[in-house]
Amino acid sequence: MLNAGLTVLGLSRFQFAMTTVFHFFFVPFSIGLAVIVAVMETMYVIKKEATYKKMAQFWGKIFLYSFAVGVVTGIIQEFQFGMNWSEYSRFMGDIFGAPLAIEALAAFFLESTFIGLWMFTWERFKPWLHALFIWLVAIGSSLSAVWILAANSFMQNPVGFAINKTTGRVVMTSFSAVVKNPQLWLELPHVLMGAGITASFVIAGCCAWRLLKKDHVSFYRKSLNVALVIGLIASIGSVAAGDFQTRYLINQQPMKFAAMEGLYKDSTNKGDWAVYSSFNTKQHKTTASLDVPYVLNILSYHRLSGTVKGQNTINQEMHATYDKKFGKDMNYYVPTKTLFWSFRLMAVSGGLFALMAIVGLFFNRRKSQLIMRQRWFLYIMGLMLWLPFLVNTAGWFITELGRYPWVVYGLLTIADAVSPTSTVGSLLFTNIVYFLLFAGLGLVMIVLSHRTLTAGPDGVEMNGYSSEDTSGKVEDPYGTEAFNHD
Ligand code: HEM
Repeated sequence: MLNAGLTVLGLSRFQFAMTTVFHFFFVPFSIGLAVIVAVMETMYVIKKEATYKKMAQFWGKIFLYSFAVGVVTGIIQEFQFGMNWSEYSRFMGDIFGAPLAIEALAAFFLESTFIGLWMFTWERFKPWLHALFIWLVAIGSSLSAVWILAANSFMQNPVGFAINKTTGRVVMTSFSAVVKNPQLWLELPHVLMGAGITASFVIAGCCAWRLLKKDHVSFYRKSLNVALVIGLIASIGSVAAGDFQTRYLINQQPMKFAAMEGLYKDSTNKGDWAVYSSFNTKQHKTTASLDVPYVLNILSYHRLSGTVKGQNTINQEMHATYDKKFGKDMNYYVPTKTLFWSFRLMAVSGGLFALMAIVGLFFNRRKSQLIMRQRWFLYIMGLMLWLPFLVNTAGWFITELGRYPWVVYGLLTIADAVSPTSTVGSLLFTNIVYFLLFAGLGLVMIVLSHRTLTAGPDGVEMNGYSSEDTSGKVEDPYGTEAFNHD
């Protein structure tokens, strides 16, 4: 998949992929969890039921762990640009700088300031004002995504720039064009919906495991319902946004689209869509496939007729366009097997998430005990906890591997972006160190979350005291006692 041989380029790519994949386990989880916790606290404000406050504090604790690990891994990710991709940083600095600075100054500061306020000021402000803090955290984390994806979208579809003739680097000529990039406004909803899926299905999975143990049944059933309602909305949203992206790629990045659909030859008007295919990637051939007619045309154009270019045709077109600047030896084929299977995993999972949410909400109806009897369903839901992480990774594989050989589409190749001073030895060393660090951080995250889950909602403490008094009586959230903890 990646050229992960022991070369500077291979090791730099491997390190970037490892760091990004690990970082992106925590990003969508935190973005989605902030929204879900905000919804829970808002329900507490509206319904005045103490369980919702407990839910916000309990799942909020796991959100705090995830946020912390996300920040640490995000910093390591930014190191990558200076360490291993200095040519890229030189080339892109003028474009990359502005969105990243705004992300740090506006979005990340908003997020971090209000996380602190939210965490330490339970009972010190009116409940609605306290709920506003977590909404500001949620807005801050989504705004972070806007600016990071603005930079990423430029790499997929460069807009609003000129090339400086002396330095050969890109210079921003229109900030508004960079912000209005259509790639960004297709990518953003898909990523945010994926974040909603990640957080809701992790919560749903945790609830399922606890319900199998008949632990705090009413608390976990209520949490499950909130998670599944948000999970259902996010699943439908991700499928809709994914559909727009798919059709946009046909013209914008046709090689990526052809690989996602496993097409080497141009498709015929019959629109055969491969459920399964095997490939000889060296000879650029499909060796076997199981096809369903018309589906390719429905997915591509929302109609029965039409044709789609295969990778072989697109390869010739790309040579005709770029050979003058990049030479005849360029390989424009992208990793077909990875894109083909990643797309199928992602699309099938989108439907599966929606289905599981609908079935789960049906079983978990108020006053019905059905969910407690459907142990098979709880087992599947519990195992599905890991699926969103896999699916998000598959999505990024498509987005990033599908723009091969470019790091900035049509302007800079991956091979030209790597640091000239990096060595195989130093990269091997940092790869091992990062791997151990990520494994350690992942373990800490799992152990802490597991401990919080097994301690249960009664064990949760925010602001240094439990929301339940020693006699086990839940305090009145609006009563004067709630403000007397000092
Ligand atoms: C029918 C369902 C889906 C379709 C048709 C779809 C389609 C796509 C396409 C075409 C891309 C590549 C976009 C590009 O390179 O510009 C993509 C990327 C991605 N997908 Fe999906 N997707 C679906 C479901 C999901 C689900 C359920 C998740 C998460 C749980 C997800 C997460 C992602 C992520 C994280 C990316 C990378 C970021 C981006 O480019 O948007 N996708 N998806």
